[in-house]
Amino acid sequence: MEIATSLLNVDRENFSEMAYKIEAAGTNYFHIDVMDGEFVENSTVNLMKEYADQVCGINNTPMEVHLMVDNIKEYVDMFLPNNPREIFFHIEASKKKAEKDNTVFKDEVMDMINYIKEEGVKVGLAINPETDIKEVYKFLPYIHTVLVMTVKPGYGGQAFLEETVSKIAELKKYIDDNNLENEIEVDGGINFDTIVKCKDAGAERAVVGSFLANAKDINYTMNKLKNS
Ligand code: DX5
Ligand code: ZN
Repeated sequence: MEIATSLLNVDRENFSEMAYKIEAAGTNYFHIDVMDGEFVENSTVNLMKEYADQVCGINNTPMEVHLMVDNIKEYVDMFLPNNPREIFFHIEASKKKAEKDNTVFKDEVMDMINYIKEEGVKVGLAINPETDIKEVYKFLPYIHTVLVMTVKPGYGGQAFLEETVSKIAELKKYIDDNNLENEIEVDGGINFDTIVKCKDAGAERAVVGSFLANAKDINYTMNKLKNS
């Protein structure tokens, strides 16, 4: 499995040291969790921008940005200067915008996909636990990764939602049956046990936050997760 380490729960005072340790342990990506206090109640913009600026300045490991925000374009523009490898936005945010602006949901999603791709950045769609996975099917030919939320977005350290495993399997079957190339990434509550369930269901990449942030031996934990 590829690992994207979430920096959400990394303490600010020893961030540089922790970022270096995570990189040295061999994370495949840094995962930046941007929350606007609107789409989710938690606000992390300033801290995540500070972390993104540091990581893209001193670290070599690629970064992916997970936007849990209503105004997707505003935050895409904010983080483009950090040269992210991939930007994820929530289809639920596009639906919310379409309802508010009385526009077409599919067009809102496609406009944002094209906007990000025109900047030369990979695009991922994030799906909340309560959202039917079929909602993402029509966008699969145009995006790279589906981020299946395995917790309700908003906070690190939450318990894994077992019912999301079947969504991963259903999505994987659809991707294979339709000869698509999309990758499946899972996000939330990932540890030694839940990562195996997600891998067996078809996920290729996992976001890991608190399980690594709290690990006694980060190298051992990272390697065991990567070799799950
Ligand atoms: C939650 C975030 C996740 C979270 C993962 O809204 O999108 O990336 O930080 O943290 P853990 O691994 O602690 O659930
Ligand atoms: Zn995330």
